[in-house]
Amino acid sequence: TSNNNNNSMLASVTCTAPVNIATIKYWGKRDENLILPLNSSLSGTLHQDDLKTTTTAVASESFEEDALWLNGKKEDVNSVRYQNVLKTIRSRATKLMDKKHFVHICSINNFPTAAGLASSASGYACLVYVLAQLYGVEGDVSSIARLGSGSACRSMFGGFVKWEMGTKADGSDSIAVQVAPESHWPDMNIIVLVVNDKKKETSSTDGMQRSAQTSAMMKERCATTVPERMVTIERAIQEHDFQTFGDITMKDSDDFHEVCATTDPPIYYLNDTSRYIMNLIHRYNKLAGSVRCAYTFDAGPNACIYLPQESVAEVLSLFLKHFPAGEGVQNYYRGTDEVFAKVNDYQPPKNMHTLYTPEVTFPNSLKYILHTRVGPGPRILSDSESLINLETGLPK
Ligand code: DP6
Repeated sequence: TSNNNNNSMLASVTCTAPVNIATIKYWGKRDENLILPLNSSLSGTLHQDDLKTTTTAVASESFEEDALWLNGKKEDVNSVRYQNVLKTIRSRATKLMDKKHFVHICSINNFPTAAGLASSASGYACLVYVLAQLYGVEGDVSSIARLGSGSACRSMFGGFVKWEMGTKADGSDSIAVQVAPESHWPDMNIIVLVVNDKKKETSSTDGMQRSAQTSAMMKERCATTVPERMVTIERAIQEHDFQTFGDITMKDSDDFHEVCATTDPPIYYLNDTSRYIMNLIHRYNKLAGSVRCAYTFDAGPNACIYLPQESVAEVLSLFLKHFPAGEGVQNYYRGTDEVFAKVNDYQPPKNMHTLYTPEVTFPNSLKYILHTRVGPGPRILSDSESLINLETGLPK
């Protein structure tokens, strides 16, 4: 309904931001409004070639309101988190504030939100990145992304990223810091097994609040387990030590789900397929005699598997054998053709034969299998890639 013309348009920016998957999980807040965590956490950033959010923000004097479209649908801009983000950005602006204006924002994911992949992390990271450009916000902006969704602050950088919990009441030291850029460990691959599951889960926000209040495991987790793991995993990343990295990643995922199970009432995010995957990975690593791949599960049944290049063909072929595509399923394997060809040609060594029982397969247990890598942080695109028609101020 805005009557816009180009003369009243003040500025326009389009950006992309990645998804991240934690290897040390964030679970529990000490401040619900500022989204300050009870423990530090650490994640890998997934490559945006495969999973990303794209967001355009346009400021104009002729817009009549702030407006937001997510995946084509107009959304409410009055949520507390969205308003906290917008207010903080505007309070730190070095541009635009001398002119009365409103902002139109349009955001899309290149992956289905229904898949249960962390869309709030890439979504808020992209929103904050784009607004920080638009308003000329200087200094750390990960603490603003944190106000949208805690895990979003880790999507403000590529490679491996830690979220330092901080100690200050105003949250100014609760920020994301890059531990290593994506170029540091190019050998690191990621496989996401998107599990078929219709059940509605407990949201992370509700779940972690209940765990903080009721799980007896939380105290030790926050006081000693996680602080020790943060030091060890950071060193493992610096030293390219996959054994330690993988071991801690699986342990922290297991502990996180144990915290959920000891919450009152209990929360269960994993299903039979998730547990089968965990078991298979442990059997595989045991036969191989070393940690060849490591699983981690967030607040849902999907598996995210970190693994070095040398394990990719073997592990992918293992999963494709156990979880073949269901009949008529298109686009089941999502990755490069080059890797897929290697997977098809792969002949398992003798000691691995006990892992393959051709009679035991589970078609339709997975929606799809994605092969990706650790990738870069948010990017600025040119105006030609804007999601908003700069003449009308509305989504294209
Ligand atoms: C299990 O960041 O989605 O994925 O801060 O309430 O928005 P809010 O929660 P959110 O929680 C993510 C929890 C997790 C672990 C992690 O990503 O560290």
